[in-house]
Amino acid sequence: MTGGAARQAARLREQIDRANHAYYVLDAPDISDAEYDRLFRELQQLEADRPELQSPDSPTRRVGAPVASALAKVTHRRPMLSLGNAFTPEELAAWEDRNARILPEIRTAGYTTEIKIDGAAVSLTYEAGRLTGGATRGNGVIGESITANLRTIADVPLALKGRGWPAVMEVRGEVYLPYAGFTRVNQERERAGEPLFANPRNAAAGALRQLDANITRRRRLRMFAFMVEPVEGGLEARTHFAVLDLLAAWGFQVESQRQRFETMAEVQGAIAGYEDSIPRLPFQADGVVIKVDRLDLHGELGVVGGREPRWAIARKFAPEVAITRLEQIRINVGRTGALNPYAVLAPVEISGVTVSAATLHNEDLIAEKDIREGDQVEVIRAGEVIPQVVRPLPDRRTGTEREFRMPDRCPACDTPVERPADEAMRYCPNASCPGRVLEGIFHYGSRDAMDVRGLGYERVRQLLDRSLIRNVADLYDLTAAQLVELERFGEQSANQLVAAIAASKARPLSSLLFGLGIRHVGKTVAQVLARRFGTLPALARATEAEINEVPGVGGAIAEAVEAFFAEPRNVELVDRLRRAGLTLSEPGATVAGGPLAGKTYVLTGTLPTLSRGQAAELIEAASGRVAGSVSRKTDAVVAGADAGGKLEKARALGVDIIDEDELLRRVGRSA
Ligand code: IVH
Repeated sequence: MTGGAARQAARLREQIDRANHAYYVLDAPDISDAEYDRLFRELQQLEADRPELQSPDSPTRRVGAPVASALAKVTHRRPMLSLGNAFTPEELAAWEDRNARILPEIRTAGYTTEIKIDGAAVSLTYEAGRLTGGATRGNGVIGESITANLRTIADVPLALKGRGWPAVMEVRGEVYLPYAGFTRVNQERERAGEPLFANPRNAAAGALRQLDANITRRRRLRMFAFMVEPVEGGLEARTHFAVLDLLAAWGFQVESQRQRFETMAEVQGAIAGYEDSIPRLPFQADGVVIKVDRLDLHGELGVVGGREPRWAIARKFAPEVAITRLEQIRINVGRTGALNPYAVLAPVEISGVTVSAATLHNEDLIAEKDIREGDQVEVIRAGEVIPQVVRPLPDRRTGTEREFRMPDRCPACDTPVERPADEAMRYCPNASCPGRVLEGIFHYGSRDAMDVRGLGYERVRQLLDRSLIRNVADLYDLTAAQLVELERFGEQSANQLVAAIAASKARPLSSLLFGLGIRHVGKTVAQVLARRFGTLPALARATEAEINEVPGVGGAIAEAVEAFFAEPRNVELVDRLRRAGLTLSEPGATVAGGPLAGKTYVLTGTLPTLSRGQAAELIEAASGRVAGSVSRKTDAVVAGADAGGKLEKARALGVDIIDEDELLRRVGRSA
């Protein structure tokens, strides 16, 4: 049995490692996310059941350690330096000239060039080939320990492959979030009513400094390694280019456009190619790093001001700017009611993409930059990031430009808007505002919430326009017969949507909580709350103080959750969802102090509405334990139709026998 389990663990590890490689290295996922999650959970379960099968190199160890209270400070064994910049070919040539005054042979020593990735610098400590520590750059001398977070990054080898590494070394690299991940994270934040990250670098740095490594893992960060600092033992490489090859052989990702050149003239000739390729990369980059290739010359060249090594420099490119006319400023009403101003632009091409809209963030920014409707404006677009209006060009004004004022009434429902004292945003306070409702129902059906396939933006709009729904509870009353009557619906798509809506009833409480769009309750907070309270009624009953006590949940969240459940319209909505048959509980939640704390229940027979699994989840979510057989220690047997031996035994021992209704009452699920 143990041999079988060991083989199974090895098989799962291999499958997961292969899937990680396909996803992260080849950029060609070969299994679905759901299948990956299933393998991952199976391995986690196996390792939990049989601790002897655990291994520090298991892919499960990429999952976070317990939540830390604060990040510890660590001193880097070698300082983490920064880079000087050159913005023009002349500045780059001047860099070589300065170096040649110190070391004339520099002109023939060769250079390596690499893309400069715009992320967050990290240092990884390896001892005897195993990852033993990791830190942020901090001030270059002292950083913060983020080992648990770094272990969640698939590009960070936990144990090195091959051979030839120094006994102790620090590997330096850049952690980044590809554009696709950046867009996903910001979409999630937008839905949760959380402030958006301005760029992928901020998102990556934020994810790295999380106290809960599970949050880091979900961001799916990546890392390129670009340097080794041996601490004990040497390196079998004499050039930087060879170091990059070693790093790749040990299992790190290294930048794939790295090149080696003999002379500065050749480097200069390659720069244009890099500049062209950068806008097409799937991640944010802002230049090329040019490094003296011979490692023995690095020490001789030394460091300027204790900060910038002379042996490397960043040749930077400004993001491409375009000038166009800002036709109009419009407002989009978000799910939380936030009025988001955006610029409608005369279409213009930037780095090969036609841009016709750009965000304007908020009214203070518009006022600060004095952006007016009709202005000629500078617009930048960095990769996939939403285009931004940099500044207006006041010299080009003709006098017909119009200053912008945020509306005092919601453009979607005409309700007077509110601006909280400490915020730069105005909000429409009307929970039934059609703008908010549309965004809210769309969010409810989104993948990370209730995952209703086929409930896209236009479909939601259509259902609202036809008055078939007014809120998310109405979704569960829709019939295929109603949908078939609508444009762009056939019999098949109508049936599919009704089935997808019905399937969403089985989603866990965490998905529902996120889907309800309670202010400040993003995906992670929803999971934390669902695990702590187990059922929706338990959360709805909780006081603000009780919610506030949950680690990771701040005062603003507790206040928002309590306010949500205090609102009669929401109570009614949740009650309708319960009657529609939604799960309202979190599988595997272990709730301290739930109504069944310390009680052991046994299930037997077929219950009228709950499956065995659902009944067990409810009991566990209420802190109870589910046992497989009846004994004197059993507190109650939940009996359904055709119950057999367990029921008889319960009778013989005088154990309490209850039905489904009574169970629902005891776990606080009945009306
Ligand atoms: S080498 C001794 N190579 O840029 C300095 N840095 O602006 C070692 N960066 O702190 C840096 N891509 O975080 C190097 N290919 C690359 C890089 C790179 C991004 C970052 C690094 C550094 C910062 C300086």
